[in-house]
Amino acid sequence: MTDTQAHGLDPRRLPRHVAIIMDGNGRWAKRRSLHRISGHIKGVEAVRAVVTASREIGIQYLTLYAFSKENWKRPEEEVKALMDLLYDYLIKELDEMLHNDIRLNAIGELTNLPARVYEKLLDTMERTRHCHGMTLTLALSYGGRAEILHAVQSIISDLENKRISHDQINLDAFPSHLWTRELPDPDLLIRTSGEYRISNFLLWQMAYTEIYVTETLWPDFGKKELIEAILDYQSRERRFGLTSEQLI
Ligand code: FPP
Repeated sequence: MTDTQAHGLDPRRLPRHVAIIMDGNGRWAKRRSLHRISGHIKGVEAVRAVVTASREIGIQYLTLYAFSKENWKRPEEEVKALMDLLYDYLIKELDEMLHNDIRLNAIGELTNLPARVYEKLLDTMERTRHCHGMTLTLALSYGGRAEILHAVQSIISDLENKRISHDQINLDAFPSHLWTRELPDPDLLIRTSGEYRISNFLLWQMAYTEIYVTETLWPDFGKKELIEAILDYQSRERRFGLTSEQLI
């Protein structure tokens, strides 16, 4: 019996791509009278646990909303702490990624990251490029509207330079201009801490994504909670606009 089956999961109906809005680090810290940054530190432990668990379960694509375009407006001290945590994570997790055959990918306005973080990110992506067990995508300085606008600008540039013609602008071709061009659309979106919002995450890609919201705060989210979310996903019928009868 595989690890997946041992947890009651149906290995034939695993979500191929799981995306997560990791929310609630600040509240986790506040409830313990700790500084918000302690919540982010604990949040990194949850990232480690969920990446390992996803690989064990057999998820092929995991995308984590680690820093939004809007997060730059947080207090300078918090932004700096998050960038430092990201930098440390990239250094500490490289061996683990290689060992577990995990390829690192990133989406967002990456050049806005501090230079040392940006360089470490590119270096880690390059070093894990040959890994095919799972693709871990970090959304950093990411905004869904900015991504769509960037795709439109890319199409206009291709038109102006005669790389494409008007009839090549269609629903099949559009996603190839998005930062997620190498990823399938997410099957399951998990949001922690009980908020029912998409928060500018993967707006184009989530047209048919199943949404799972849990009250659990991100620092308390781990393998058990991930399995609960996937079990819930496996209980749903995905119709993509069709009727139940058409799916049989
Ligand atoms: C939301 O909690 C969380 C974030 C804005 C940052 C997420 C970052 C991490 C989990 C750590 C760094 C990530 C990596 C990949 C190393 P919040 O601060 O908005 O919580 P609140 O809504 O309770 O205030």
